[in-house]
Amino acid sequence: MNVKRAGLTLLLDLGLLGGMLALWSFNLTGLALHEWLGLALCGALPAHLLVNWGWLAATTARLRASLPWRTRLVYLLNASLFGALILVLLSGVLIAEVTVPGLAALAGNRGFWRVLHTQASNVTLLLVALHLAVYAPRVVALLRQLAPTARPSRPPRPPVHPLGTRVQEG
Ligand code: HEM
Ligand code: HEM
Repeated sequence: MNVKRAGLTLLLDLGLLGGMLALWSFNLTGLALHEWLGLALCGALPAHLLVNWGWLAATTARLRASLPWRTRLVYLLNASLFGALILVLLSGVLIAEVTVPGLAALAGNRGFWRVLHTQASNVTLLLVALHLAVYAPRVVALLRQLAPTARPSRPPRPPVHPLGTRVQEG
């Protein structure tokens, strides 16, 4: 991965995480900002999936073959997180009051979608934390790619006398 792509990937991840932190803090953002942020996440999430499409497609194709149990577990975690996010986003737009109020008519029992929204949002809290823990080494690897590769070598320091004074050379 080149430096530009690593930077963009990290920027997107940071946006996703920042967005989620704000979405979990409903009392801090208020309703209107909460709804707009939630809708923005509907765009950021597919972008994240596309960036990581290589892993997702390759692992899905190998699910029936032999795969290490750790990879299967990570796949299960990612799939659960995806499912929970779909539930939160779907129930969110069905109870929306500011951005897409027209959709509430489709919801029927608003109370049901509201409880689902809150509970699924609690589940995403746990799953995103696990997701970040699993991919922490990958974040570190991406950050390393952004760091300057070759450091200018320092000139050798003159030897120091045991009493603390510099030894005169020549
Ligand atoms: C991952 C995305 C989302 C998360 C984590 C999330 C999380 C939350 C949380 C924690 C609350 C407070 C629940 C409570 O106090 O019981 C809430 C309320 C709410 N959310 Fe979301 N939300 C998300 C997306 C959305 C979207 C996309 C919309 C609509 C466009 C939306 C609309 C609402 C509404 C209308 C409420 C107020 C419900 C009420 O009190 O009647 N949310 N959300
Ligand atoms: C809003 C929630 C999410 C956040 C904050 C998040 C964050 C991250 C971060 C920081 C990384 C490591 C750096 C990178 O490669 O981008 C990562 C990797 C990854 N994420 Fe997410 N993610 C989220 C949701 C999801 C979901 C729902 C999936 C779903 C299926 C997913 C699949 C992946 C995959 C496949 C990788 C890397 C695989 C690899 O190449 O090793 N993420 N995510």
